[in-house]
Amino acid sequence: MIRGWLVAGVLVLVLSSIGFAKLGNIIFDDKIESLKKAGMPPAVFPHAKHEDIYKCEDCHPNIFKDKRGANDVTMHKNMNGEFCGAAECHNSPKAFPLYMCNKCHIK
Ligand code: HEC
Ligand code: HEC
Repeated sequence: MIRGWLVAGVLVLVLSSIGFAKLGNIIFDDKIESLKKAGMPPAVFPHAKHEDIYKCEDCHPNIFKDKRGANDVTMHKNMNGEFCGAAECHNSPKAFPLYMCNKCHIK
């Protein structure tokens, strides 16, 4: 009985180390020149927090490619309903709105 639990415990550890662990914060700073000009810090995307609320396929691959730095995000696109501003996201009542700049652009 105890050995069974041990085996299960080891399995969980092994599985989490090969990719079931949540991703942490992802920093968006490709547009560092525009960000500096506007006096805005880079945007921080809390991946784990979003994993808790949504399914992977809610975002990947339609809204965001699942590769760090592979998405050309701008505020113009966000405001036009792409990326962070996609329907059901930060352009809808379901999440804080795009005008709350410093909820994403965090020092
Ligand atoms: C929901 C999150 C979010 C909110 C809210 C948000 N932004 Fe952004 N913003 C981003 C992301 C992500 C990028 C991409 C940054 C990069 O890749 O360098 C970005 C990029 C930018 C850029 C640089 C690129 C560009 O489009 O010029 C500026 C300037 C900017 N944001 C200003 C703002 C301002 C001002 C506000 C508030 C009116 C705001 N942002 C609100 C997520 C957000
Ligand atoms: C709310 C949207 C959202 C959800 C839900 C989401 N992701 Fe992501 N994911 C992103 C964003 C945004 C990025 C960063 C893309 C970038 O840097 O351009 C990302 C990046 C990634 C990356 C690349 C990491 C790297 O270091 O290159 C992987 C892998 C990934 N996600 C897998 C997943 C998996 C697996 C799930 C479900 C458990 C998931 N994502 C759920 C938005 C999401």
